[in-house]
Formats: sequence, structure tokens, C-alpha cells
Amino acid sequence: MLRTTTLFAVGLTACVWTNAAVAADPSYARSLAATCFTCHGTDGRSVDGVPPSLAGQNRDYLLKQMQEFRDGKRPATIMHQHAKGYTDEQMALIAGYFSALTPGRAAAAPAAR
Ligand code: HEC
Repeated sequence: MLRTTTLFAVGLTACVWTNAAVAADPSYARSLAATCFTCHGTDGRSVDGVPPSLAGQNRDYLLKQMQEFRDGKRPATIMHQHAKGYTDEQMALIAGYFSALTPGRAAAAPAAR
């Protein structure tokens, strides 16, 4: 019994520690945000704003839009499905990542060889 309790406590400590370490890791936020690059452009700078650029947008606005897509409060073609894959904590990290970036034009595609 004592052994089970000890193992549980050790496991719980490891989980809490891992979550704290993950949340504090800036590359974790970028990894999450990278799932958005395919459509919203590298670092959230989309080509001609379609779909809208995310770089430099207000953090609270981005978070609210993600939550509204997830909850079906904002109509969407794609985002209502994509937004379902993230926890509120992950959405906050993603919103923080994009809001800290400078808005700008999408990088030009490399020239064809
Ligand atoms: C498969 C393409 C695709 C991916 C991947 C994608 N988006 Fe979108 N996003 C869209 C489209 C298209 C819209 C316009 C709304 C709609 O029709 O779904 C949009 C709209 C948005 C908006 C509203 C922008 C505004 O100015 O109001 C936000 C915020 C957003 N996306 C955030 C994200 C985030 C964050 C991710 C990554 C976790 C992401 N999107 C991934 C296609 C995508």
C-alpha cells in the first residue's frame, strides 16, 4: 500500500513538473503555432491576407476567436474543426506566440530551379 502511494506521488510530481517545463518552453509554443503556418503563412504572415495574417494580432482577440471557432459561436469553413484540437492553455500559448510577432508580408517562395 505504501509502495503504491509512493509511486503515485512520484508519478504525480513528474506530471506536474513536466507540464510546467512544457509551458515554460518557448519552442513548445512555436511547435503548436507551426500547425497554423500551412494556411496562415510562416509565422502567421499569409499571402495577401488570405486567410488573415495572425502575426501581430491582439492576443486576447486571437484567443477569443479560437475559442469561438471551437464552440461553434463563430461560423467557419475550417477553423471550427481545427480549433477543437487544442486545450485552452495551448490556445493561450499559440495566441501569445502570434501576438508577439511583427506583422509583415509573407516571405517570397524560393525561386524554382
Ligand atoms: C487548413 C487551413 C487552416 C489552418 C491549418 C489554420 N487555419 Fe485559421 N483560418 C483558416 C481559414 C480558412 C479562416 C477563415 C475562417 C474559416 O473559414 O474557417 C481562418 C481564420 C482564422 C482566424 C480568424 C482571423 C481573424 O482575423 O479574425 C484565426 C484567429 C485563426 N484562423 C487562427 C488559427 C490558428 C491559431 C491556427 C493554428 C492552431 C489556424 N488558424 C490554423 C484556415 C486555417
